Amino acid sequence: MTLLDTARGVRERAYVPYSRFKVGAAIRTASGTIYAGCNVENVAYPEGTCAEAGAIAAMVAGGDLEIVEVAVIADSPSPVSPCGGCRQKLAEFGKADVKVTLATTDGATLETTIGALLPGVFSNDHMSRT
Ligand code: THU
Repeated sequence: MTLLDTARGVRERAYVPYSRFKVGAAIRTASGTIYAGCNVENVAYPEGTCAEAGAIAAMVAGGDLEIVEVAVIADSPSPVSPCGGCRQKLAEFGKADVKVTLATTDGATLETTIGALLPGVFSNDHMSRT
């Protein structure tokens, strides 16, 4: 089973009564463990969480901190684009060259990297004077 298969599977569990837009994300870590997450919406809309955030939370709870590969899938006309906040969240735990596969449920894929998704990332270096 590929990382994308894991993302496809967990996407079915997305809780999306408001947008009806199901997203699944899967993360492979340096330890080899795979973590999955789906979006979980809330009637107080801003309280909803993205699939990537769910996978990252599962990863940290599972004791892993180093992302080595990511896959995200949705039923979108082109490979789903992670939101800005999720790009920053991925950059917290993965190096710039980490492969990210973005996919549609129709089978289209786009391969990119954490670094390409967030040029000019805010990093710890920016706080080096504090
Ligand atoms: N969403 C994700 O879970 N990940 C993405 O990469 C893009 C957007 C979710 C948030 C919300 O539940 C729904 O998709 C519509 O924005």
